[in-house]
Amino acid sequence: MSNQAVKTWHLRDDHQSLVLASFDNRLPEAVYWGPALPAGENLETLAAASLMDVAPGMVDRNAGLSLCPEASETFPGQTGLAARNLAGDVLAPAFRFESEAVTEDGLTLVFADRDLELNLVFDLVLTPGTSLLKLQTRLESANEITVDWLAAPVLPVPAHTGEMIEFSGRWCSEFLTRRLPFSPGARMRDNRTGRTDHAHFPGLIVCNAATRNTSGEAYAFHYGWSGGHRMVAEELADGRRQVQFGHASASLPKGLHFDTAPLYATYAAAGLNGAAVRFQRHVRDHLVKGAKSPRPVHYNCWEAVYFKHDPEELKAIADRAAGLGAERFVLDDGWFGRRDDDTTSLGDWVIDRRKWPDGLTPLIDHVKSLGLQFGIWFEPEMVNEDSDLFRAHPEWVLGPIGQIRGRQQLVLDMSRQEVRDYLYDRIADVLANNDIGYIKWDHNRVLPVIDSRQAEGFYALVDRLREDFPHVEIESCSSGGGRIDFGVLERTHRVWLSDSNDALERQRIQHDAALFLPASVTGSHVGPRHCHTSGRTIDIRLRAWTAAQRHMGFEMDPRELTDAEADILREVTGWWKANRDWMMQADILRLDCPDPAIIAEQQLSQDGREFAVFVALARTSDQILPRPIRLTGLDPEARYAITLVNRDEAPRLSRGAPLLKSRDLEVSGQYLMSHGLTLPWRFPETIWVLKGEKI
Ligand code: GLA
Repeated sequence: MSNQAVKTWHLRDDHQSLVLASFDNRLPEAVYWGPALPAGENLETLAAASLMDVAPGMVDRNAGLSLCPEASETFPGQTGLAARNLAGDVLAPAFRFESEAVTEDGLTLVFADRDLELNLVFDLVLTPGTSLLKLQTRLESANEITVDWLAAPVLPVPAHTGEMIEFSGRWCSEFLTRRLPFSPGARMRDNRTGRTDHAHFPGLIVCNAATRNTSGEAYAFHYGWSGGHRMVAEELADGRRQVQFGHASASLPKGLHFDTAPLYATYAAAGLNGAAVRFQRHVRDHLVKGAKSPRPVHYNCWEAVYFKHDPEELKAIADRAAGLGAERFVLDDGWFGRRDDDTTSLGDWVIDRRKWPDGLTPLIDHVKSLGLQFGIWFEPEMVNEDSDLFRAHPEWVLGPIGQIRGRQQLVLDMSRQEVRDYLYDRIADVLANNDIGYIKWDHNRVLPVIDSRQAEGFYALVDRLREDFPHVEIESCSSGGGRIDFGVLERTHRVWLSDSNDALERQRIQHDAALFLPASVTGSHVGPRHCHTSGRTIDIRLRAWTAAQRHMGFEMDPRELTDAEADILREVTGWWKANRDWMMQADILRLDCPDPAIIAEQQLSQDGREFAVFVALARTSDQILPRPIRLTGLDPEARYAITLVNRDEAPRLSRGAPLLKSRDLEVSGQYLMSHGLTLPWRFPETIWVLKGEKI
C-alpha cells in the first residue's frame, strides 16, 4: 500500500483543514477534515496514515470514500453517481486524475474516464473570512446520458461524532430540528416537492451527544438549491460515515452537463454557534447583494385586509403604520386581475381597475409622502385556470392537466423561454411604470413534477429582473418559509420565514433558523393581537420584541391597536431603529439554558462592544425562580455594563430584589459567561430584553 502514488491537496485557514489525497490517480478522498493542522504537517504521511486495515470478509482493498464514491471501486455504500446511457445501460466509471488548477481560495480538480468519455470536475473553495467550504461537482459527458444521482463533493464525518441534527417542518412551523443517532445504514431525505419546502430545509449538522450551542464539535452542511434535494447520511459496515447532498432523485433531465448546487460545509470547534455564525456571516457578507441600508421597518397589509383592497382604507392604514415607525409599505396579494380570493387571476399581472381605478400611483404617492418605500406582491410561477393567461396558454402549465391543484392553482413551466419572457414583461411593466422598491415573491404550492429546470428557470427570471431593476429588493416567500436556501439568497434580500405571526411559535422558528440565517435577512412581523394562524392571543410586548430580534415589520391592522399598545410598539420600534446598525451586522448566538421553558439568544456586535440578549419565557418553568442565563462569546477580562431594557415590565408578583430590577450591573465577561445573569421572576409568554456594552 505504501508504494501507491499519492497526490495531496490542503484547504486551510485558521479554523479548519480539509486534506484531500488521490491514491494512484483515483478520485480524491478527504483523509482529514477538522481543526486546522499545523503548517508543517506532511500530507503524504497523513494520506498513508489514513489507510485502514482489511479484515476477513472484506474485499482486498478498501474502496475510497472519495468525493464521489464509485461503483467501479465496489464501494460498499451509496455511490456519488448513478448514471445510464440512453440505451439504459448502467455506467460505472473509474475516474482517473487529469488536471488540477489552484485558484486563489481553492482548487479545481478534473478526473476523467476516457473509455466512457466522462469528466468529473470538483470545484472546492474555502471562503476567506467566513471559513465556509463551498463545494461543487460537475459531470460532463461526450454523449447524452441520464443521471439519476449526482452528489456534490462527498465528505466523511469522523467516527467520534455520533449524532446528527436534521431539519423538518411544516407550514407555520419551519426549521424543526431533530437529533438522531448515527447508526449502520443510510438515512436518506429525498425532497420530491420541487421546491426547498417547509418540510425539507436542506441542512444537516453532525455532532457529538455533548455538543450544545456554545460547546462541542459540529460538522455542518447546507445545500444551496431551491429545487428539492436529496441527503444521504450513511454509516458503512466498516465504520466509516459519509454525507452526501445533491438534487432530488430523478430531477435531472438527460443531457451532456450536470452541475450540483454548491454544498456549503464547515467544521466548528465552538459548538453549534460556531457553525451558525459562519453561515450567518456568509449569507450577510457574501450572498446578499444590494440590500438597502439601514434595513427599513416593514408594514405588510396581508393580515389586515387580505384580498379586500380599498385605496382609501389602505392609505389610512399606511398613515397609522408610518406613525408606528414603518418605513416600507408592502401591498400584498389582491391588486391584479380580478383577484377577490385565491381561486382566480394568478398570471394576469395587470392592475385591477375595479379596485384601483387610478392605478397604484395614488397609494404609492401617499405612501412615499409619508416617507415609506413601496413594495408589492407577485407569485410569478403560478397560474389559475380562471385567468386570461391560462385561457390563452393552457400549454404553459407544468405537468399533466389532470393533476391535483394546490391552493386551486397550477404551475407554469419555467423551463420555457416564452413563459419566462412573458413573466419578465409583465413584472417589468409594473416595475417600470410604478415607483416600486420591493417585491415579495411568493410560491404557494409544491410542484406536480420534479425537474431541476424549474428552479433554474426561476433563477434565470429573477437574475434578469435583478439586472434590469437593480434598485428593487426581493423577498423570498413560499407560503412562509417554503423557499429558504442559499441558492435563493444569492438572488434575494430577505426571506419570509413563516406565515406564523404567533410570537411564541416565531420564537422557536427564528431560534432554529438562526443556525443558518442572519437577522438582516430574516423577516419577523408583529402580527394581530389574536393570531390568525394559531388562534392565540398574545401581548403586544412579546409580539413587538420578537419581531425586533430580526428584520422587523408589522402585519396587523394598525387600527386594532389600543393607544397603550401603539405606544409600546412605537417604543420597541424606536429601540430597534436605534440599534439596527450594529444588530443587523451582529452574530446571533443561541444560548444554552438549563430551563427548557426558555428560548434565549445573544446578538453580539462585530466588534464585540455591544450585545443584546433576548430571553423568552415560552411557558411556565418547572422550578419557581428563573435560572441564571449564561452568556457567550465575551472577553472574559473585559467589564460589561448590563441594562434590563424592559425592567418596568416586572410584575407585582415579583417581590424580591434581583439587582437588574432596579439598576444596571457592571461585571466581567467571565462572570457573565460562567455564572450568568439573574433575572426577575415573571409570567410565561413574556420576554426579557437586555442590552450590554463593553466598558
Ligand atoms: C402566502 C404568503 C402570505 C401571503 C399570501 C397571499 O400564503 O405566505 O404571506 O402573501 O400568500 O396570498
